Amino acid sequence: MIDLKDITVTFKNKASTVHAVQDVSLQVEAGDTYGIVGYSGAGKSTLVRVINYLQKPTSGTAIVNGQALGKLDKDQLWVARRKIGMIFQHFNLMNSRTIAGNIEYPLRYSKLTKAGRAKKVQELLALVGLSDKADAYPAQLSGGQKQRVGIARALANDPEILLCDEATSALDPKTTGEIIDLLKRLNQQLHITIVFITHEMSAVKSLCNHVAVMEDGKIVERGALLDIFSNPQQALTRDFINTATQLDTALAEVRKQPAVINLPANARLVHLSYTGASTDQPLIAGLYQQYGITANILYGNIEFLQDVPVGNLIVILTGDTTKLPTAFSQLRDQGVTVTLLDPKGDAVD
Ligand SMILES: Nc1ncnc2c1ncn2[C@@H]1O[C@H](COP(=O)(O)OP(=O)(O)OP(=O)(O)O)[C@@H](O)[C@H]1O
Ligand SMILES: [Mg+2]
Repeated sequence: MIDLKDITVTFKNKASTVHAVQDVSLQVEAGDTYGIVGYSGAGKSTLVRVINYLQKPTSGTAIVNGQALGKLDKDQLWVARRKIGMIFQHFNLMNSRTIAGNIEYPLRYSKLTKAGRAKKVQELLALVGLSDKADAYPAQLSGGQKQRVGIARALANDPEILLCDEATSALDPKTTGEIIDLLKRLNQQLHITIVFITHEMSAVKSLCNHVAVMEDGKIVERGALLDIFSNPQQALTRDFINTATQLDTALAEVRKQPAVINLPANARLVHLSYTGASTDQPLIAGLYQQYGITANILYGNIEFLQDVPVGNLIVILTGDTTKLPTAFSQLRDQGVTVTLLDPKGDAVD
């Protein structure tokens, strides 16, 4: 559906050169909800704007819906873009037009009759739950409602892809949840492929089936959501995940506990993370039965990602430390990610 190959975007002006995107390849399959996470300036917006060619890459090819966008002339590109909707952090609505007027705007060149357009607008309003706001103006709407208008407008030409650039970043957590539920529904009911840029891994966690993490213009890690959450490889990815799962907050609390401050020589502070099938296995009991290692659980959390349980435990394991490496490899064989934590450190590493 989306195939970006070796995309580089360099901004040059007299004073400086910015390598916003550096040699990035990215494949998004039809029906995916693909999250792109990164801190400010990582190059997320620039990369995503290549998908609809609002940003022409300095080098590389963007193939969307089987078409190499760089090979299209102006008119062909205009047609291709109509199949790619986009929504933004600050909604970008036209304040002088009504809600219905905003949603109708992208239909101004469509072949629909006036009545056909009005019907389409009604359908879109109903789809996003704003049928009663047709004649209101943007200034009369809440942030969440404005974003619903943005979504309805983006869907006017029945796109196959919806690009979301920080679409929930200006919203409170409850409203963010509602917009994410709407996007999920659009993905499931209309099979729209979604690319969702954010600096909040928690939004990715509830919406996406894939995630890529960007830093300094590059994708440093990518994969299926569950794989990334249960076994992140990069420190940056772990940072984002620990914030989203609130593991960083939990760990800060755990490190204040006397049992951790006075950790004996035969004890280790350990983070265990596991998904799906592994959760059914009596991990902790097994450690004791086979290795005589006891576990003191300091923090535990299970949540569901795409209906699969993902567990996180912070434990103190105490016992014969020479047996720990064997015990750890057995846990890893069972699909558990085992991370030794520094009792005094300030980050999970
Ligand atoms: N039109 C432009 N001209 C010059 N530099 C630009 C332009 N657009 C983006 N940049 C630079 O490219 C880099 C990547 O910017 P980009 O907007 O893609 O990051 P981002 O990950 O979307 O950040 P944010 O989370 O703040 O939106 C930044 O250093 C930015 O200053
Ligand atoms: Mg951006």
